[in-house]
Amino acid sequence: MASRPRLGDRLAAALAARDAAATRRVRRRIEARNGTHVTLDGRELVNFCSNDYLGLSQHLEVVSAFQEASANHGVGSTASALVCGHHEEHALLESEFASWMGYERALYFGSGYLANLAAMQSLLGPGDVCVQDKLNHACLLDGARLAFCELKRYPHRDAEAALRQLMSEPEAAAVLATDGVFSMDGDLAPLRDLALLARAQDALLYVDDAHGIGVIGPEGRGSIAVAGLGSREVPVLVLPLGKAFGGQGAIVLGSNSVIGHIAETARPYLFTTAPPPAMAAAMRTSLRLVRAESWRRAKLISLVMRLRRRLLHDGLPLQESYSPIQPLVLGSNERALAVSAALQEAGYLVGAIRPPTVADGQARLRITVNALHTEAEVDGLAAALVRACQQTLVEA
Ligand SMILES: Cc1ncc(COP(=O)(O)O)c(C=O)c1O
Repeated sequence: MASRPRLGDRLAAALAARDAAATRRVRRRIEARNGTHVTLDGRELVNFCSNDYLGLSQHLEVVSAFQEASANHGVGSTASALVCGHHEEHALLESEFASWMGYERALYFGSGYLANLAAMQSLLGPGDVCVQDKLNHACLLDGARLAFCELKRYPHRDAEAALRQLMSEPEAAAVLATDGVFSMDGDLAPLRDLALLARAQDALLYVDDAHGIGVIGPEGRGSIAVAGLGSREVPVLVLPLGKAFGGQGAIVLGSNSVIGHIAETARPYLFTTAPPPAMAAAMRTSLRLVRAESWRRAKLISLVMRLRRRLLHDGLPLQESYSPIQPLVLGSNERALAVSAALQEAGYLVGAIRPPTVADGQARLRITVNALHTEAEVDGLAAALVRACQQTLVEA
């Protein structure tokens, strides 16, 4: 009789392999959070790994909007959007985003991950092709997989390679998809080049601007605004709100026909409970603050430049990134873990990013700067980082 593989054995082997490769992951249990400070195991640390780039997640007006709307409308939306979960607050958030970014229509999802699964799955199908940057976020890759289309990946930021891949599939309907600001590297996609070649190849350019929206461009309109592009060149734009907007969910922007199609056909939209109306209300307040309070962006970039100056001066190999995401590639998983632990000892929280989030041999610290950090905190982190890197080199 054939012997069936035992799942339990497989899990035990996978766990042993993660142990051997130093890729075990554990959740940290945050006991309290106050702006850029968190309490962990009873100890207060300065947090340099959250995506709350503008410091809006605890903004009094955002929190009040959430409280007021949940008192009025309850905590949950009670159903999927197409049953009875779509609320006035969702509709207002969608129309405010559409008019801010110059798109015909917007659709609000419970997370960026869901939004990308939904948009990809409903726009593409078998026989189509989705061409993507190799360093795109996992959910864009997973979305293409859910669509059962052909997925082709080009080397990071290599627009010519993207063109070659599109040209190799002249008969297939095509989406060219990229992060606007790359989540683990902090650099920008070559959007102007991608827009030109998408147009020449009759492909739809699809941008996920999770780490650019709110942070760069006039009024924080993100990487497409920095590149001088709009809804004509980028027909689908995904804007996750769990980063600079300090909340939860994502907006997908497009034409009436594209968004109408996604809303009526995307499985990750149809078959899930709509996000809480109170979160939509909070995100409307965040949008108002993002637009109005440009000092947050100005302070953020000045802190980013300060940190870069300090670290480069001391010879640390920072990547070329002018966003709040400052990766310090350390190579081995063990070294990334050791530097992260030394930083924690010194009072700073910076996570070690390891495979599969980044490629083998590319383990790193992903340092993220926040508009609410002080100059002294940035200087303190830089000094601790230099010490930790020297110490781990000596020990290696
Ligand atoms: C580029 C990008 N897109 C989408 C997501 C997922 O967004 P969410 O956390 O809202 O699911 C992330 C999250 O890290 C991201 O970096």
